[in-house]
Amino acid sequence: MCGIVGAVSTRNIVPILVQGLQRLEYRGYDSCGIAVHAGGLKRARTTSRVTELQAQFDADQAAGQPFEGHTGIAHTRWATHGVPAVRNAHPHFSAGPRAVPESILLASDTPEEGLAARPPRVGLVHNGIIENYESLRLKLEVQGYEFVSQTDTEVIAHLVDSLYNGDILDAVLSAIAKLQGAYALAVFHRDEPQRVIGARSGSPLIVGVGVGENFLASDAMALAGVTDQIVYLEEGDVVDVQLGKYWVLSSAGKPVQRAVKTVHAHSGAAELGPYRHYMQKEIFEQPRAIADTLEGVVGISPELFGDGAYSVFKAIDKVLILACGTSYYSGSVAKYWLESLAQVPCQVEIASEYRYRDSVPDPKTLVVTITQSGETADTLAALKHARSMGMEHTLTICNVATSAMVRECKLAYVTRAGVEIGVASTKAFTTQLAGLYLLTLALAQVKGRLSDAQEAQALKDMRHLPLALQSVLALEPQVMAWAEDFAKKENALFLGRGLHYPIALEGALKLKEITYIHAEAYAAGELKHGPLALVTSEMPVVTVAPNDALLEKLKSNMQEVRARGGVLYVLADSDTQIESDEGIHVIRMPEHYGALSPILHVVPLQLLAYHTACARGADVDKPRNLAKSVTVE
Ligand code: M6R
Repeated sequence: MCGIVGAVSTRNIVPILVQGLQRLEYRGYDSCGIAVHAGGLKRARTTSRVTELQAQFDADQAAGQPFEGHTGIAHTRWATHGVPAVRNAHPHFSAGPRAVPESILLASDTPEEGLAARPPRVGLVHNGIIENYESLRLKLEVQGYEFVSQTDTEVIAHLVDSLYNGDILDAVLSAIAKLQGAYALAVFHRDEPQRVIGARSGSPLIVGVGVGENFLASDAMALAGVTDQIVYLEEGDVVDVQLGKYWVLSSAGKPVQRAVKTVHAHSGAAELGPYRHYMQKEIFEQPRAIADTLEGVVGISPELFGDGAYSVFKAIDKVLILACGTSYYSGSVAKYWLESLAQVPCQVEIASEYRYRDSVPDPKTLVVTITQSGETADTLAALKHARSMGMEHTLTICNVATSAMVRECKLAYVTRAGVEIGVASTKAFTTQLAGLYLLTLALAQVKGRLSDAQEAQALKDMRHLPLALQSVLALEPQVMAWAEDFAKKENALFLGRGLHYPIALEGALKLKEITYIHAEAYAAGELKHGPLALVTSEMPVVTVAPNDALLEKLKSNMQEVRARGGVLYVLADSDTQIESDEGIHVIRMPEHYGALSPILHVVPLQLLAYHTACARGADVDKPRNLAKSVTVE
């Protein structure tokens, strides 16, 4: 998704901006650009990768015309309004309105030429979506502003220009008062060479505090290696970033101090080591990620989730889980745990639906958000919606300690998956499950439903997970053999029951995302209510078959598939007595793992999607149309 970097320094900031964009690449983008103050404003943009920008700068340098500046802004764009094209790439410029009436323009005088003829005055980058851009655009066109892009962002550049009266901060403050929607902005002006203004509302923005230089970014990771002194701006904040100082105005327009935090952001672009892709690396990191997530858990206690958790857990009598995508599926597994082990009623909602639907609030609900990034716009909005209806008990399971979500929720369990670069979420999912299992146990304990013996057994099982995961990862060669078959297919079905139905859903999502094969998942009992009509010898049917109470029911469902010529690919626990045969391929899971079994069964499905994508030559870490962190609605 879109990313922002900005800098005010006494040194040439182009290398910092390029490096910052590279660190944000993992979020997904389709164009990028940099603008600097070099006497006037100048920019370079491309629909290719950031390395292409660097190549342009190297060529400029070789030609004796270096692209340099001490103040600048940069952006990676993930298209929302307007196709991926250079004219839609950020930074956007405003050169002011036309001085001559439209009526006397020559036929050849296109808007592009008009802009080229006048030097730009305002440069701007934007994350988010401006909802009232069409009405603003009409007003600005009447004032003589020419639009050269299809974006909502260009409106803000012209709006700032139209309101500029010698002070860029004042102009930005007046402009944002007219905006509806979500934004993080970085703006600079030709006449104020050592100043960048930032503003945020609904999209994250941080200030990086340096020595005699200061920075802006949408994510602390963009500034890794530049500064670890980070200020997280709050909703509605505006910041004036200058050389030796910066100052923040709150949404009420009052100067405020925001804490400076030391953040050891990983440089993300972590080395691939022996792996071909980040997704593969992250799948294989799961034993370590789970071990790190559970490190320090010596016993089950509500306090694992923060101070005051005991009284919150005591006060609530139901759980509402809000999440998107893969995080929604980890929440769906947790529903089974919470209702069977803790006997606490649980409702799981897709955040983008919940935020807009009429629902019945209950203040005795624990609202649990699940998010890898902690910045997903829909999940943040759903949390806000729940709070606005009087549900004040909030807890997040999140992988980023410094994220907006952790700051917004009263309680948190921060998973320690480490930075996840691959767009297809893997280690974040299994560590979320670990956190959610702990939450289930802690709630069961507070409700008097967890005996000491159960606690001891659960801790033992959790501690053994890294080893169990290693033995599942050792199945990779067998999964690769399945992937060769799947690479030739265009459709697949995934089946599971109970706790493993959400695992089937997650397996199908992984396959869709990175192989572009159409995949659907069903609770196996639903087959005969419709999807069985799809089953032919051309339909591979992946079945998640742990040795649990539903196994015999699942075996009947598998017979229904075989009777229609469907080809089964079964992940069976070793003691299920399901054997490979004609039309049935079995991978034997090393051991049955009780309630924690979903954490093991999802891993071969991740590997299946990964190797199928490789076999089809897909761009595994950057699947088409998708972004890592979905910070817009
Ligand atoms: O950062 P979040 O966990 O809030 O992200 C939610 C989804 O966007 C994310 O899980 C998405 O579905 C992934 N691409 C799945 O692989």
